[in-house]
Amino acid sequence: MPAIQWNANLYDDKHSFVSRYGEDVLGWLHPQKGERILDLGCGTGQLAFNISEYGADVTGIDNSPEMIARAKAAYPGVRFEIQDATDFSFTEPFDAVFSNATLHWIQEQPAVLNCVYNSLKPGGRFVLEMGARHNVESICNAIVKAMEEDGLDELLSTDFWFFPTVSEYTALLEQQGFTVASVINFKRETALTGEDGMHDWMNMFGAFFFKHITPQQAATVVSKAVEYLRPSHYWQNTWYADYVRLRVKAIKN
Ligand code: BEZ
Repeated sequence: MPAIQWNANLYDDKHSFVSRYGEDVLGWLHPQKGERILDLGCGTGQLAFNISEYGADVTGIDNSPEMIARAKAAYPGVRFEIQDATDFSFTEPFDAVFSNATLHWIQEQPAVLNCVYNSLKPGGRFVLEMGARHNVESICNAIVKAMEEDGLDELLSTDFWFFPTVSEYTALLEQQGFTVASVINFKRETALTGEDGMHDWMNMFGAFFFKHITPQQAATVVSKAVEYLRPSHYWQNTWYADYVRLRVKAIKN
């Protein structure tokens, strides 16, 4: 996963929609009392805690020490560990692995799917939601346009997210040995928090675009890109991001 500096406070204050929408995915996980469940990319721990409320024995992992510190402080009854999604293992296998809004940060998908597979009991389920092909495309296009306008397009970096199609991700899961039980691909206009919602989103999640330009140049690009998006992505005092999701339930053979 790229070395993003996650800001756990900002994440909880301004990006709580990530956990809120994640609650919808829990319907696919269907946690049972006493099950061992791994939350892969648990962030500040909200969904791991929600899963534990079904009576499941939950472990949350994340590669951000700041997120894990926050999760441990907020939910002392849940186990949290700093772990790399592409290189983890547990001695006791899990009944299910759950992951929300994490996997699109990882380029090494075969490595992560191998770790997930090896962590599950035979027949265990992997329930995930991630960004799919065309996710946040209009936001990316607005940033690209603003960078081009400022003559910065040669400095643009764009290779940090992995937003697969249904068939690409199904093929990866099958290559690993999973059977895909259910898969859906859907658009979800996602309401951002606050009057500066789009600005905050670009500053937190779009930081990779700007790694080769100065903070001043980035600030100008963000302001311009926000204005390009205003006519189509701001209505009734709310900013919306054009999220496209891939939701999967796969079973370990
Ligand atoms: C997403 O959840 O789709 C997402 C989050 C941050 C950056 C890009 C996409």
